[in-house]
Amino acid sequence: MKGIIFTSFIEMVEEVFGIETMDNILNKAHLKSGGSYTSVGTYEAEEMMLMVEILHQESKIPIPMLLKAFGKHLFSVLISQYYSIIKDFPDGLSMLESIENHIHREVKKLYPDAMLPTFEAHRISDKELELIYTSDRKLADVAEGLIEATMVHFHNYSSIKRKNLNESGTQVKFKVCNA
Ligand code: HEM
Repeated sequence: MKGIIFTSFIEMVEEVFGIETMDNILNKAHLKSGGSYTSVGTYEAEEMMLMVEILHQESKIPIPMLLKAFGKHLFSVLISQYYSIIKDFPDGLSMLESIENHIHREVKKLYPDAMLPTFEAHRISDKELELIYTSDRKLADVAEGLIEATMVHFHNYSSIKRKNLNESGTQVKFKVCNA
């Protein structure tokens, strides 16, 4: 998993829960990387889940809620660092429709070792988009936060419906409606 995911997560924890909480997490996690990440490096995805698990134990906030909040924070980091990739999208639904064939494709060119989810997009109408998330990382909660933040970024008021397509959480369907 790319370092930008880790550095963004640490940034969110420090901002919201404080530097002490982040230090506690790092002390408890005994990470192989030692907890020092660079945004272009690549690290084991398990380290992320371990830090989230410890944050959940420390804060008592449910893991899905932590991951969704992280998705929203991650969005602000991604758009500020990769603005050129998204600057030409006119609205939220067209950006979301293009994750697979444009956004993450560009990411893959920059970082061939990126472990990206797949997003199958079906445009149901000009106000409705269905997105099917598939990934062994099971980060649909992060995806939900990113989807919500995308719609907010374009000032598109939306409703997001979610349906798990399997038990393990590797495949989730989102229906995003633009009000
Ligand atoms: C400027 C726009 C975006 C950029 C530059 C970007 C880039 C990236 C990068 C670098 C990663 C990490 C890959 C790795 O760890 O190896 C990632 C992962 C991910 N991206 Fe994007 N992304 C963008 C927008 C979005 C949006 C709008 C969504 C909405 C659903 C999304 C969903 C995800 C998810 C869920 C992951 C976690 C990995 C997984 O679930 O397997 N991304 N993205």
